[in-house]
Amino acid sequence: MAHTIVIFGASGDLTSRKLIPAIYRLFQKKRLPEGTQIVGVSRSAFEHEAWREQLEVTTKKYVGDAFNDSVWGAFREQIFYQPGDIQEESDFHKLADFLKSIEPEGPVERVYYLSTKPQLYEKAIAQLGAAGLNDDSDGDRRVIIEKPFGTDLASAKALNIATHRVFREDQVYRIDHYLGKETVQNLFVLRFANSIFEPLWNRHFIDHVQITVAEEVPVGRRAGYYETAGVLRDMVQNHLLQLMMITAMEPPARFDADLVRDEKVKVLHSVRPKTGGDFASESVRGQYEGYLQEEGVPKNSQTETFTAVKLHVDNWRWQGVPFYLRSGKAMSCRTTQIVIQFKEAPHLLLGSKTRIPTANQLVIQVQPAEGIQLHFQTKVPDTELKTKLSSLDFRFQQDGGQEGMPDSYQRLLLDAMNGDASLFARSDEVELAWGIIDPLLAAWRSPASPPLQVYPQGEWGPQECTQWMTEQGRQWFDVCPVLRG
Ligand code: BG6
Repeated sequence: MAHTIVIFGASGDLTSRKLIPAIYRLFQKKRLPEGTQIVGVSRSAFEHEAWREQLEVTTKKYVGDAFNDSVWGAFREQIFYQPGDIQEESDFHKLADFLKSIEPEGPVERVYYLSTKPQLYEKAIAQLGAAGLNDDSDGDRRVIIEKPFGTDLASAKALNIATHRVFREDQVYRIDHYLGKETVQNLFVLRFANSIFEPLWNRHFIDHVQITVAEEVPVGRRAGYYETAGVLRDMVQNHLLQLMMITAMEPPARFDADLVRDEKVKVLHSVRPKTGGDFASESVRGQYEGYLQEEGVPKNSQTETFTAVKLHVDNWRWQGVPFYLRSGKAMSCRTTQIVIQFKEAPHLLLGSKTRIPTANQLVIQVQPAEGIQLHFQTKVPDTELKTKLSSLDFRFQQDGGQEGMPDSYQRLLLDAMNGDASLFARSDEVELAWGIIDPLLAAWRSPASPPLQVYPQGEWGPQECTQWMTEQGRQWFDVCPVLRG
């Protein structure tokens, strides 16, 4: 069946940096359904040819060595441009006519990608409905939305309601690009295709879990947006909670979109609700030195660029096992990692001679240096019984090379085109996630909340965060040496 991808926000950065390169690579790998056409929509007055030429330059830049002139030559013929303003109902009717003019007779599957400002989502969806572009009597109609899905629970609910007025939930694909990362999908494989981890994956053997998404870059030119978000909304509400859900979920009965998401949602239902008082002792927030000097940041900004939060998952598997979620900008290195910290051995043999310095750790390196390390104690040769920490180290790069790690958007776009929503966020998932974040945001706004801590750029966040872990008898796992090694 023929397919069309309609991209609203065609002249935006996401389209040229991520979407077109991903679709091009799918075409190059012969994974794009035959005859897929791409239609860009935005207010700029381009001709098809001018847009193709512009995309050739940007795709070359972002695809790098994989760019091939003759493949592009064939691909570019499938790209079209239709000027349109999301505010103008008549432009949607013109779009409907244009689509009819290029699509073959018979059923056609269409995906609408909203790569616009989030403030335009509701309007764009309503206009699609008003122009009858949601009518799926002649082929599936799906809509892809990018995060943020609202800025709090109330706005997320409003967006879901507005979306459901036009599209059924099974037509809605909410992208969290972390779910498109190979290493995140590998978490499903690690947990559910091996028999050695699952028996240990619970409160009997695990002391706690650390999930870190650290970025080396500061906020820079994105300060305008960042001021409305902060790291809690920008990263924790979506990416970190997604990583936590996949780490903590029960095995689904089948790898089916709703069964997988049902299990993920149960994790969010199990997160212990917090009161304002809990947050004082269970979260740290910081702002890097120099943030106030970024362009567009008010001099008294209280926006957090770093946070660490402790969550409890109250169910049979995880009772008593805290999940620490930590994320920040201007940190000492770029890394996304999940650390499963096992409990200490229950009994130390031979007293001080076999002192065990740290318990076992399973480290899942989501990015970069994608891989998995298992740390355990071994005997130092030629000593009586001295132990040291050794590791089994698996790196994806050795396994599949650069080609083995496609950009998230390739997988997610293809899944959306094929109607597989397993790696997309469902409406209840988004709302439950906001239900965890909103009280924290409210607690931080209260005058009784501990102040925002300032941290130097290039460090692991504020000193108070290290101290906070030490007070709990735990330590952050510093993964930078592993990456550098
Ligand atoms: C985005 C955030 O969702 O994810 C950005 O808005 C952040 O602030 C980015 O930089 C990180 O994504 P990745 O794939 O580079 O880890």
